[in-house]
Amino acid sequence: MPHKFQTIIEPFKIKAVEPIHFTTREHRAQALAEAGYNLFLLHADDVLIDLLTDSGTGAMSSEQWAGMMRGDESYAGARSFYAFEAAVQSITGYSHVIPTHQGRAAERILFGVLCHPGDVVPNNNHFDTTRANVEYRGAEARDLVAEVGRHPAELHPFKGNIDLEALERTIVEVGVDKIPLAMLTVTNNAGGGQPVSMANIRAVSELCRRHGLLFILDACRFAENAWFIKEREEGYADKAPLEIAREIFSYADGCTMSAKKDGLANIGGFLALNDPPYDNERYRDLPQRCRNQLILTEGFPTYGGLAGYDLEAIAVGLREVLREDYLRYRIRSTAYLGEKLLAAGVPIVQPPGGHAIYIDARAMLPHIPPHQYPGQALAAAMYLEAGIRPVEIGQVVFGRPTHDGSPETPSHLDLVRLTIPRRVYTQSHIDYVAEALAYIAGRREQIGGLRITWQAPVLRHFTARFEPAKG
Ligand code: F0G
Repeated sequence: MPHKFQTIIEPFKIKAVEPIHFTTREHRAQALAEAGYNLFLLHADDVLIDLLTDSGTGAMSSEQWAGMMRGDESYAGARSFYAFEAAVQSITGYSHVIPTHQGRAAERILFGVLCHPGDVVPNNNHFDTTRANVEYRGAEARDLVAEVGRHPAELHPFKGNIDLEALERTIVEVGVDKIPLAMLTVTNNAGGGQPVSMANIRAVSELCRRHGLLFILDACRFAENAWFIKEREEGYADKAPLEIAREIFSYADGCTMSAKKDGLANIGGFLALNDPPYDNERYRDLPQRCRNQLILTEGFPTYGGLAGYDLEAIAVGLREVLREDYLRYRIRSTAYLGEKLLAAGVPIVQPPGGHAIYIDARAMLPHIPPHQYPGQALAAAMYLEAGIRPVEIGQVVFGRPTHDGSPETPSHLDLVRLTIPRRVYTQSHIDYVAEALAYIAGRREQIGGLRITWQAPVLRHFTARFEPAKG
C-alpha cells in the first residue's frame, strides 16, 4: 500500500504572480480615516490581504486563459456560446441557458417576469441583491432558514437547510397564487456559507411539485455545496462531485448563477431553466419571456452582456470547479482558517462555511453595543493592524437609522466575513490572517465603537461614513 499523506496542498503551481502591497500602520490609519472607516471606500492598493468577497476575485487557470484566446466574438451564434451552453447543460441538465453579465442580472430578469406587488418569495436566506431584486418588484423576500441556522455557535452538518414546516405553512397561509416561485441558496451565503442537504433539496422539490410551484436554485456555490454533501450526507461519500451536482440540479426547475463564484471566472452568470412542468398562464413560455427581457438590457441571447472570451472562461471554470482535488483543498483551507481562529479564542460561526469564515463580532467585542457597530469596528481594526480587508455583515447592513436619536434596534447578528478568493492566497497568507486575529483578540478591549456620520437611504453599508464613538 502506498503511504497516504495527510497534508492537503494547493492543487496548482503558480505561473503568474501579482505583488501585494505592504503599508505602514501610520499609512493605514490615514487611509482608514479618509475612507470614513468604511473598507469599501479604500483603494485596493492600500490592502495587503483582501477578504472582502470571493466574487470575481479568483485566479483563473492556464486552461481558462487559453480558452479566452479561443473566444469567438461573433455577435450571434458564437462558438463560445455553444461551449458555454454545453458546459452548463452537462452539469444542470436544464434545456434553456441564458447568459447574463452576473448573478443579479439573472435575478432581475426572472423576478421581473414572475413577481408582482404583494407576492412572497420564500428562500432559506436571500442574499442582499436577491432580496433587493425581489423587493424592487414590490414582493416580499421571506427567509425561512431552519432554526439551527440562526445560532452561530451550534454545530450541525447542514445549517443552510430551509425549515420545511415553515415553508409549507407559508404556502398554505399566503396561498399558491401569491407565491411565484420558491428558492434555495446553495450554499447559504447570508447564513454563514452553510450547505443545504440533498434531503432538504429533495423535500423542497416535492413540496413545490405538490403545490404546482416553480423551484429555483440560487446556485452560486453549488460545487462547494456538493462537496459538503459528499463529506457529510449518508450515501454520497463515493459519488463524484459532478454526479452530486447533477442530482442537486435535477430537483429544481432552474437556477440563477453568479459565475464569479463557482464558475471560477472574474465576471459572468446565467439563468438556466427547464420548460416549467405546469401548464398555466403564470409559467407559460417562461424561458422565452426571460430571453425577451435579456435582449432589452443585457444583449442577444448567445452572449447576454458577456464577451465571447468570458463565455469560454466560464465553460472551462465550471469543469475545473468540480475536480475533487480542487474542492478538497478549497473546503479544507477555509476550515483551516476557522480552526486557527477558534484556537486563538475568536468566536466564529460553526462549523466553518465553504467560501468564508464568519466572526461573531458581538461575542468577540461584548463591550461595544450593537448601535456602535462591533462588526465594523473589528473590520476596521483588522485593516489598521494588519492590512486585511474583511466585510461587515451585521448592524451596518441590516440595521435601520432611527429618527429620534434613540439607538438603532439591534440586528439579529453582528458578523465579520473573511471571504476567501479562489486559488489566490496560499497557506502562509492564511497563517498571517490567523496570527493577526490572535493579536487583535489579545487586545480586544482596546477596540472602540463607531458612529455613523453619513449614510445613504438604501444599502448604506457600501457608502456610509463613520468616526470613533465617544467614550
Ligand atoms: N446570490 C448569492 C448567494 C450571492 O452570494 C451573490 C453575490 C449573488 C447572488 C449575486 O451575484 O454578484 O454576480 O450579481 N455575492 C457576492 C458576495 C457579491 O460578496 O457574497 P452577482
